[in-house]
Amino acid sequence: MPNPYSRAEAAAHVIATRLHAAPKVAVVLGSGWVGVAEGLGETTAELALVDLPHVPAPTVQGHSGVARAVDVAGTPAIVLGGRSHLYEGHPVDTVVHTVRAAVLAGCTTVILTNACGSLDPAMGVGQPVLLSDQLNLTGANPMCGDEPPVGYPGRFCDLTEIYSRRLRDAAHVLDPTLPEGVYAGLLGGSYETPAEIRMLRTLGADLVGMSTVLEAIAARHLGAEVAGVSLVTNLAAGMGAELSHAEVLDAGRSSAGRLMTLVAGLVGAAA
Ligand code: HPA
Repeated sequence: MPNPYSRAEAAAHVIATRLHAAPKVAVVLGSGWVGVAEGLGETTAELALVDLPHVPAPTVQGHSGVARAVDVAGTPAIVLGGRSHLYEGHPVDTVVHTVRAAVLAGCTTVILTNACGSLDPAMGVGQPVLLSDQLNLTGANPMCGDEPPVGYPGRFCDLTEIYSRRLRDAAHVLDPTLPEGVYAGLLGGSYETPAEIRMLRTLGADLVGMSTVLEAIAARHLGAEVAGVSLVTNLAAGMGAELSHAEVLDAGRSSAGRLMTLVAGLVGAAA
């Protein structure tokens, strides 16, 4: 089995030859965000995510499973309609694989979106939130394992500004009411218990989910500027009604227009 970086290089080659030769921005659409892809701009090429080398078959409902090249008001973007998660049983290198591939294909900005639970009643269902920072509580890290190969940055990457202040400022120009929050990324599989949510609140989390944190680390390691946007699909466990994946997908559908404008604005702000 080639090392994770060689695998990402193989997928980057397919992105460059079958989607776009010089993409600038990668957008990862999480649960509830699939509707955003169509409205972003003209799709100039597309393929199934599984047609990228080393991408596993998707198992999560609410992901399109399509990778598109989209012209977003003149900026070439790769829009990835889905992601792999640790809770599906994938190793960490598989979880960050498409993000690594997109950066190796030339994307200098990565926009990560997800569905999340909110720990703050002021950030209610349907509210998009810009990630200001994260707690990686998955127990995994893409910088674990063999030292990155020669030619790649070393493993101890700086995460002081994991989510770009510059991109957050640009989003605020478009929508000054957008809140910011700290995202706690958990291994997942199940939703949390109310006691776990109380624990996360004392740890400084505003939002909770099961994705994004590993991809953000991998993208920063390769030098990309990263933006994260969570869509609140429910109040966290113990704060409202019981949690269901159907509710998560519904919240996405009803916020699609606002989310699209936000993602388009972030793409436009890419350096
Ligand atoms: N917890 C974890 N992940 C989630 C949630 C939640 O409440 N909502 C959507 N994804």
